[in-house]
Amino acid sequence: MCGITGYIGYRKAYPIVINGLKRLEYRGYDSAGIMMYDGKNIHLSKTKGKVVDLEKIIEKTPLKKEGNIGIGHTRWATHGVPNDVNSHPHVSQSGNLIIVHNGIIENYDTLKKELIKRGYTFKSDTDTEVLINLIEEVKKQENCKLGKAVQLALTNVIGAYAIAVFDKTKPNEIIVARLGSPIAIGVGKENSEFFIASDASPFVEYTKNVIYLDDEELAIIKLGKGISVRKITDDRLVDTNIEELKMSLDQIEKGGYDHFMLKEIHEQPKAIIDTYRGRMLADEGIIKMAGVDDNIEKFLNANRIIIVACGTSWHAGLVAEYLFEDLARIPVEVEYASEFRYRNPIISEKDIVIAISQSGETADTLAAIKLAKSRGAFVFGVCNVVGSSIARETDAGAYTHAGPEIGVASTKAFTTQITVLSLIALKLGKENGSLSKSAFHSYLQTMQLIPSKIEKLLQLDTKIKEIAAVYKDSRNCLYLGRGFNFPVALEGALKLKEISYVHAEGYPAAEMKHGPIALIDHNMPIYVIATKKGHYEKVVSNIQEIKARSGKIIAIVTEGDTLVKQIADHVIEIPETEEAFTPLLTTIPLQLLSYYIALMLGKNVDQPRNLAKAVTVE
Ligand code: F6R
Repeated sequence: MCGITGYIGYRKAYPIVINGLKRLEYRGYDSAGIMMYDGKNIHLSKTKGKVVDLEKIIEKTPLKKEGNIGIGHTRWATHGVPNDVNSHPHVSQSGNLIIVHNGIIENYDTLKKELIKRGYTFKSDTDTEVLINLIEEVKKQENCKLGKAVQLALTNVIGAYAIAVFDKTKPNEIIVARLGSPIAIGVGKENSEFFIASDASPFVEYTKNVIYLDDEELAIIKLGKGISVRKITDDRLVDTNIEELKMSLDQIEKGGYDHFMLKEIHEQPKAIIDTYRGRMLADEGIIKMAGVDDNIEKFLNANRIIIVACGTSWHAGLVAEYLFEDLARIPVEVEYASEFRYRNPIISEKDIVIAISQSGETADTLAAIKLAKSRGAFVFGVCNVVGSSIARETDAGAYTHAGPEIGVASTKAFTTQITVLSLIALKLGKENGSLSKSAFHSYLQTMQLIPSKIEKLLQLDTKIKEIAAVYKDSRNCLYLGRGFNFPVALEGALKLKEISYVHAEGYPAAEMKHGPIALIDHNMPIYVIATKKGHYEKVVSNIQEIKARSGKIIAIVTEGDTLVKQIADHVIEIPETEEAFTPLLTTIPLQLLSYYIALMLGKNVDQPRNLAKAVTVE
């Protein structure tokens, strides 16, 4: 995890680096640091805490803001507790080389012992300090330039990295390299300036020209000269492919909302439209998706679909299991990527693996993809971040067009993933004859109405705040759902735990009586999804069972429901739709409830403790 950023050019580097770090804080926020080079000296500032804490320290020493070169880091601790010393940047023993690093050097201990034998001493507990000293040692031994030293040092490293390295004795260049962790390089006009960052958001207002490094690539960035990229392993020069950055500044700002999470919840109608725009032609009765169209035979002849993902994306995968089986009659298995990759799974060439990931950088999902590919499966990606590692690693795919998701708790990524997966399921259902032409048409018409129905749900804000105020102090709660809405129960519980630190569990409603029912008393709020077509009567029986044990019921029902209203303590109505699409609606009030509960508890909604947005470590 961690975010790295850097600048070399003619502008003042400080605001670019510090604002860049703020935009990358979703990647980790337990400590932060920067190095500024003022033309003569380097100035290092680092601290435990967030980027604002770093800023406060720097404000007191204006010298540290001078210069046109800087690198910065926001950390999610792996090796060594979050403290000032373990914070990046790290400096080599001679004081000349400075590094920021995102990733893990797995063999750091062996390398460290070797360097200690050669007289190196270490201040921090980090693997990164080992790497910068290894680079220094190689540079000394080989008497070579920095780029070569970094390259040679990296061939001795096991693990993952995105790094930026600066040498104060050669201050017109920065070396950047990646393996397993992302890195983007923004290119200014006529090589007059360069931006370095874990994603392109820190430089979106300065340049639209971006180079994404691939794994095992090293870039030498030279002011006024340009960028040369080489393969770390065989020293081969690589053609640099400058892409046009599509991201805009307003997409990564809060736009008047108090938090990114709230903004992103409210963006869902638009995000869903953006996701199906150009793909779903409801009036013509067509779904066009290049990644599926180009591989339609593979999809139609597949024995089964295996979905791999983590967290919220895994929940979207569970919804997809219901969608694919119900609409296209294709057997599906949904796997935690972290279990799948270590389980020696049985995969054949007739299996299709769908990997779902918002960030496209999740280490376990990436490893699961590599495993599936090595066993001959065709791997299809559903990612949000364009150009991400997973998007590059998969054989084909479909982007969700949610726009940047910055709040750590995933919201619009979930509903847009379900949208993409619904389109694929519908398309395959039509192609393989599981869905009649008229049923297919009717689904498309219904899907088109989802965004306006979400708009309607978003107006329930006041009611949801009232419910949140009643239950904010409960330390435990249950989420129940069946069928398509069982994964929504899991997702509702995850949203609450991760941002409010309240213990919440999601269960299939009928499983309640096999254990969790013992937890129920008058203190326990239970969020139950009881939509009209989803085994409604059965869920109503479950609600009665809860009521008989004095549990507090917050029910999500279909508009016009009268029965549950008589039993439940609170009801939230969702507009009627096809059962298959209800997760796109039932999830909205649960997102809002979590948001308001966390807010009322005074939690940091966008940056919950211990978490990071992109989990690039195992
Ligand atoms: C929860 C959340 C995480 C992610 C998970 C996978 O709100 O955001 O559970 O869903 O870390 O991340 P991606 O989708 O980026 O692979």
